[in-house]
Amino acid sequence: MKSDTGIALVDLDEDGVDRAFRADVLKGLRQRPKAIPARWFYDEEGSRLFEQITQVEEYYPTRAEREILEARGAQFAELIGPGRAVVEFGSGSSFKTPLLLEAIDPAAYVPLDISGDFLRESAAALAEKFPGLPVHPVEADFMRRVALPDEVVPLKKLGFFPGSTIGNMVPRTAVDLLRSMRATLGAEEGESPMLLIGMDLVKDREVLEAAYDDGEGVTAAFNLNLLTRINRELDGTIPVEALAHEAVWNDKLGRIEMHLRATRDIDFEVSGERFSMTEGETIHTENSHKFTRRGAYTLLLAGGWTPVERWLDAQERFSVILARATEQREAP
Ligand code: AVJ
Repeated sequence: MKSDTGIALVDLDEDGVDRAFRADVLKGLRQRPKAIPARWFYDEEGSRLFEQITQVEEYYPTRAEREILEARGAQFAELIGPGRAVVEFGSGSSFKTPLLLEAIDPAAYVPLDISGDFLRESAAALAEKFPGLPVHPVEADFMRRVALPDEVVPLKKLGFFPGSTIGNMVPRTAVDLLRSMRATLGAEEGESPMLLIGMDLVKDREVLEAAYDDGEGVTAAFNLNLLTRINRELDGTIPVEALAHEAVWNDKLGRIEMHLRATRDIDFEVSGERFSMTEGETIHTENSHKFTRRGAYTLLLAGGWTPVERWLDAQERFSVILARATEQREAP
């Protein structure tokens, strides 16, 4: 499938290797401390493991967010109104979307995803569930401004970004994304788009660390699968059994960090390049930022979005926030 610009998004070399994956992995492994962007977790097995994570006891965000979306439909309808095009950022295989679409009577559904496979699946499933609702999937990298299909441009828009995926970004990248969303949703063209966004909350360290290191070991398998993927796709020789999953709360930066820690000194190759790790050294694989109310609002405001309403689940673990694009006007 082609992106909205007509360019295929996955750039493969003559051996069928994803160039961006190789570049990110080599750059990240040369760096100290080592780090690999979290987006590379999601190969087929990684996506399957993530779905499994959402069902483990300790991982509350998916259930808590669903509870909010189920409970607050009437308020969404009242504050958002009918007739908007719902633009979902990173639609994945989302089961949350129907809850929103049922509540607000939208004019169109526009899932944006970098993976054409997911996009086709979720678009087809949604179209079947909502006969008569125009569905316009767009394969695109939503970190940049995305050109929406012509039929959608004249409609009022609601951005939908569930799952606290924004928490995977460091604040300056999150602000860049929020500003790109404004542009994608037409805020600069005098439109007044809205945004419904899931943001996980700061809570006790024990609860957070358990959510990212479940007793069944599903999150560990998810983290370690990145190494298996590197070995398979990039001719790697990483001894996977010599790295251990770790999830720690970084209180200063307000985030859970996932790492892979070497349990002994190791040497390995990736794409013909040699690397070594000493015992105890880690590869940083993911950040998952958590937010206070004020922290969430400040981030949204910095990205050009004014909070309208905020909802929590009954146990106050997760938040869903409705915001409106901040008007560009003179301020004192
Ligand atoms: C899909 C990014 C929201 O950060 O909670 C779950 C990914 N990583 N367990 C999260 C994840 C480990 C998840 N997000």
